[in-house]
Amino acid sequence: MTRRHAEQLAACLADIADPRGGGGVLATGRLSGLRLADDGTASAILAIDGLPGRAAQALEAAIRSRLASAPGVARVRIIQTSERHQAGPAAGADGLAAVGHVIAVASGKGGVGKSTVAANLALAFRRQGHGVGLLDADIHGPSAHILLGIARRAEASAERRLIPVSAHGIRVLGMGLMADPDRAVAWRGPMIAGALVQMGSGADWGALDMLVVDMPPGTGDIQITLAQKMRPSGVVMVTTPQALAVADARRAAALFRQLDVPLLGTIANMARIEGPQGALLHPFGKADAAALEAAIGAPVLAELPLDPAVTAASDKGTPLATGPVAEALDAVAAGLWRRLASV
Ligand SMILES: Nc1ncnc2c1ncn2[C@@H]1O[C@H](COP(=O)(O)OP(=O)(O)OP(=O)(O)O)[C@@H](O)[C@H]1O
Ligand SMILES: [Mg+2]
Repeated sequence: MTRRHAEQLAACLADIADPRGGGGVLATGRLSGLRLADDGTASAILAIDGLPGRAAQALEAAIRSRLASAPGVARVRIIQTSERHQAGPAAGADGLAAVGHVIAVASGKGGVGKSTVAANLALAFRRQGHGVGLLDADIHGPSAHILLGIARRAEASAERRLIPVSAHGIRVLGMGLMADPDRAVAWRGPMIAGALVQMGSGADWGALDMLVVDMPPGTGDIQITLAQKMRPSGVVMVTTPQALAVADARRAAALFRQLDVPLLGTIANMARIEGPQGALLHPFGKADAAALEAAIGAPVLAELPLDPAVTAASDKGTPLATGPVAEALDAVAAGLWRRLASV
């Protein structure tokens, strides 16, 4: 979006006042994240806190019609968020009602391979014949659309509920399927939690055996919202074997324990790489399953190699159905399914 586009979009909203006073909707922060994607989609986030349902709908309608008439806008997408998740078009029907199990893939430290594991674990469940969804809950750093090579954007239903995009036989939602991928998302905590609710119970997931949720790193709003709003059956922790990462994973695991989310197990990722002449190297240290289990308080489900073929496939958006990482995750999926089905 050029500066001129941004100014034109903002200008067409200039005289829409925040119903709670204080000035225009952009000035008070009630409307944020305003952007225009290359395909002509204008999108924005509308915080509806403090507005009765009807006022929120009227405000959204006014914003929509202004944006729709702005130059270069082909369609308008507005996501309503609320600190208390009240009202909003998604209230009422629970989009997760027909989802058998929600499994979160989490870590303490960033960059340890959560998104890679989450996407490939979802596909492993799919290979075993289950109905699968992947929810990318990393609002600031979405990855699912890249890992799965999805260029389309998610649409909304007539009731303005998000409809997951189908790719590789699974249903997928995430900010990368909504926001302009070249723009960073800078939202406050409550809005981030609101976005997760919109993509979780507020979306039309339909009937699924398994919804895998790719979490952002750490222990923040998203982790708490997941635990409180999405009834997860459990969480799979991902860490490298490095003590630095394990210490963070241990802290994150403690938070999930505190939130009553069962720890299903740990995946030690990038635990080894094949070097010259077949020598095994351990760039992040050698995984010690017993020590990992003791640190995190959950069994080690798999040790995945650092496989350059996986890195390349991730960038291409064509995940691998074979090879050591896929095979290990097939075994993890089968084990988790047996375990969850018997609960
Ligand atoms: N087993 C693996 N083999 C090869 N490359 C991997 C493997 N796991 C992860 N990677 C690579 O490591 C990097 C980080 O992975 P990924 O994005 O999945 O981590 P993350 O924990 O989701 O990160 P973030 O905390 O930023 O969300 C990526 O470049 C990814 O392709
Ligand atoms: Mg990630």
